[in-house]
Amino acid sequence: MGDEKPKFLIKGGKRLDGRKPEDVRPIQIKMGVVPNADGSAEVIFGKTRVIATVYGPRELHPRHQVINERARVRVRYDMMTFSVEDRKRPGPGRRETEISKVLAEALTRVVITEKYPTRAIDVFVTVVQADASTRVAGLNAASLALADAGIPMRDLVVSLSFGKSYDEKGQGHMVVDLEKEEDNWGMGDIAYAVAPALGEVLLLQMDGDVTLEEFKKGKTMADKAALEIYEMQKRALKARYEEGSK
Ligand code: CDP
Repeated sequence: MGDEKPKFLIKGGKRLDGRKPEDVRPIQIKMGVVPNADGSAEVIFGKTRVIATVYGPRELHPRHQVINERARVRVRYDMMTFSVEDRKRPGPGRRETEISKVLAEALTRVVITEKYPTRAIDVFVTVVQADASTRVAGLNAASLALADAGIPMRDLVVSLSFGKSYDEKGQGHMVVDLEKEEDNWGMGDIAYAVAPALGEVLLLQMDGDVTLEEFKKGKTMADKAALEIYEMQKRALKARYEEGSK
């Protein structure tokens, strides 16, 4: 990644990596990548790779965190030291703590937590390689890992980023699934997650400057891409289930 601002992020309707504004990067989903966990999944969006593992439902410690009526979904998001260009200092900082919190809130909305009063469901989201949009890739992986662990859910979580890029004249264009240059230099980036069958938005965070009109346009593009990702998730789970029942 260069440190100089590129002259454009989109030209002639094509982005730096050749995608059209509405295209996501090549996506791969791998289920059960950590057999020792109760559930696991790896999600790859282009050069961004994230692994999620799930442990539980299990006894919750420390006891003062216990919720009598339901399970507590806890998330620990972190990046491997080698996952970014400058070595990532080990352990969670402010950014990782914030991401863990918003991911836990999103997942709590879909997990049927009432089924496991007082228990903990622990989700570890580990970024192996970062090329932007790691929290949204991580949320897809976490949702799949929960399903892999057999934890009952109201819906899957489908998550992606969208944002505003600029062309050679400085004109803004909405695009989905930002890669690193777009995240670094773009005019706005939005982390978005939805439960498609429930029709609920589970995550919405924005950095930068986007008008309401632009936001609406980007959201429509993201919702369309989300349905493609939803189908990929369902196919991956079905294949995993068929493999498990052999
Ligand atoms: O990854 P996400 O887009 O969810 O979060 P961000 O805080 O907007 O970070 C955007 C990107 O910056 C990450 O995906 C990484 O590629 C990069 N980054 C980095 O290089 N070093 C860090 N310590 C944190 C982020």
